[in-house]
Amino acid sequence: MVGQKKQKDPVLRPQKNFSRHAYTSSLRQYRKLYRRSIKKPEEFWGEQAKLVSWSKPFSKVFSTPKKPFCKWFSGGKLNASFNCLDRHIPSRGEKTAIIWQGEKEDEVASISYRELLDRVCRLSSALHRYGVKKGDRVCIYLPMIPEIAISMLACARIGAAHTVVFAGFSSHALAKRIQDSGAKVLITADGFFRRGKLINLKAMADEALSQCPAINNVAVVRRAKNKIALKGGRDRWWHKEMAGNFPGYSKPVAMASEAPLFLLYTSGTTGTPKGVEHTTGGYLVYSTLTAKMIFDLKETDIFFCTADIGWITGHSYIVYGLLCNGATAVMYEGAPDAPDPGRLWRIVEKFKVSIFYTAPTVIRSLAKEGEQWPRRHELSSLRLLGTVGEPINPESWRWYFNNIGRGKCPIVDTWWQTETGGILISPLPGAVPLKPGSATVPFFGIEPEVLREDGTRAKIGEEGYLAIKKPWPGIARTIWKNPKRYIETYFSKFKGKYLTGDGAKMDEDGYYWITGRIDDVIKVSGHRIGTAEVESALVSYHGVAEAAVVPVPHPIKGEAIYAFVMLKKGTIGNDNLKVELAEHVKKEIGAIAKPEAIQFAEGLPKTRSGKIMRRVLKAIASGSADVGDVSTMADAGVVQALLEGRNK
Ligand code: WT7
Repeated sequence: MVGQKKQKDPVLRPQKNFSRHAYTSSLRQYRKLYRRSIKKPEEFWGEQAKLVSWSKPFSKVFSTPKKPFCKWFSGGKLNASFNCLDRHIPSRGEKTAIIWQGEKEDEVASISYRELLDRVCRLSSALHRYGVKKGDRVCIYLPMIPEIAISMLACARIGAAHTVVFAGFSSHALAKRIQDSGAKVLITADGFFRRGKLINLKAMADEALSQCPAINNVAVVRRAKNKIALKGGRDRWWHKEMAGNFPGYSKPVAMASEAPLFLLYTSGTTGTPKGVEHTTGGYLVYSTLTAKMIFDLKETDIFFCTADIGWITGHSYIVYGLLCNGATAVMYEGAPDAPDPGRLWRIVEKFKVSIFYTAPTVIRSLAKEGEQWPRRHELSSLRLLGTVGEPINPESWRWYFNNIGRGKCPIVDTWWQTETGGILISPLPGAVPLKPGSATVPFFGIEPEVLREDGTRAKIGEEGYLAIKKPWPGIARTIWKNPKRYIETYFSKFKGKYLTGDGAKMDEDGYYWITGRIDDVIKVSGHRIGTAEVESALVSYHGVAEAAVVPVPHPIKGEAIYAFVMLKKGTIGNDNLKVELAEHVKKEIGAIAKPEAIQFAEGLPKTRSGKIMRRVLKAIASGSADVGDVSTMADAGVVQALLEGRNK
């Protein structure tokens, strides 16, 4: 089964000549500093916070005036854009900040820190003209082009919180996020290419905007040069806004440490996505420190993270954490298999990438195509590999280690979440011995716990709920406009401890093995999708009475979406309807949420109190005849019918 981990794997020693950070050069050093970070967190974080530049020093490292809400670096002021740009100019002005590779091979751009600063300043001025002020929200709906990073940094520069919406989300999903965040400006593009196919992004934005009257200014990047409509008085071409007379510099606004830097919507266990709120000081310190230590960043590194900036991975390890360290980030617009499964390896060779960070699903899909693809490329520039997004099965881990790292590069299996802001559990390369399939040990200041239902600690090897005992600087501070949901989702099950939603176990060496989500969240190709969101999309279709969505193991995607659909009387369940339902979900959420399989059902297994028994549905969807204990089920006959339906 995908994601299942054996604990008997050999321990791989890290490579010699690796990490040169004094404190991460051996396991002993790691343990020593880890202990100090736990015993004296204020001292530890107070020191580490010096990694970023403060325009006003903080007076208090950590406080919890109203538990579970916390504050980091109170009293301090800083600007994230200044930290990612201005402060590098004296020493790194001509250094490349972003290398951009379009989906077409010959479309390449290299942007120095100086150029990036100039473009960010120009956009900041445009945002000022649109009336964006400190404390406002700006929505960004862009493909993987440099303008997405420029937009984020321009917002940060003037103190507006950005909310990036992944360009693969539908117009409906975009509208919901604009409305919830209260954004008044949208930055989007005419279109973009995916596997050579034109995606008409502006048309989707227009559809969303018809339900978002609060947006009074739209900047449109000309990317695909497809024909679009600009609405007079509201829409303007990005390139025209960036040209013209411009004072030359836009002053970064000093922001309070706890001021929101961005909102990022993610799926939970209800039908409504939550706006995870990250703050300026804590998030920047945490993403910068983890990037520096876990990826062992050096001045000459070329870092290629394949995630889309529309997800937290791109926020933290393409934009903020990387640029704040003054590193060079590679950004790729297209699909990993466009035009062929050698694409990512060609990028590694072309730009001499030294650190490569991707998701297990990408590794599995490329491994399936065979070793000949990576073998064709010179990959000797690589010195470190990383994974994120879902558990990696040891087999894929080894394929990655042998065929991409050629047996020479450590792999950092980094566990974290949108809410955590940065990596919480991961090896430190060069110090922590690796075990294929384990995210290994906690980062400094992080105290994970594996808990039982009753809140007591699980034994070694026993699976339980993964929780984090105390806050760290990068933790999300709240859910936008919904602090109640923040408390209920994360801090209620085990009072005051952060509940991750993942299952885990710890082995005899203190290594963590993440077993996957144990709430109603599915990870499809590393993307996070709430079952309730898909269910509410399905029932919004006329003719659908009820729907229940569960994950099924999938050899490439890790998990796939399996939907049981009960139809209203008079609606006929046939293959046509299945296609229509899948299209409807795509329209409501986006292509990533399309069910892999839909099964029409006459009835769903429910307890006598009417709760859907997901455990039973999961077993049926996975093709197992063993559905476990059904003594609490209202009508046990339903199972037989569902099993027969599954086999059809
Ligand atoms: C969920 C968070 C964090 C960036 C991308 C995903 C799963 C993440 C790992 C890992 C096992 C992992 C968890 C987590 N996950 N990294 N290394 N090993 N599982 O962010 O969309 O917020 O999803 O991804 O289930 O809860 P996200």
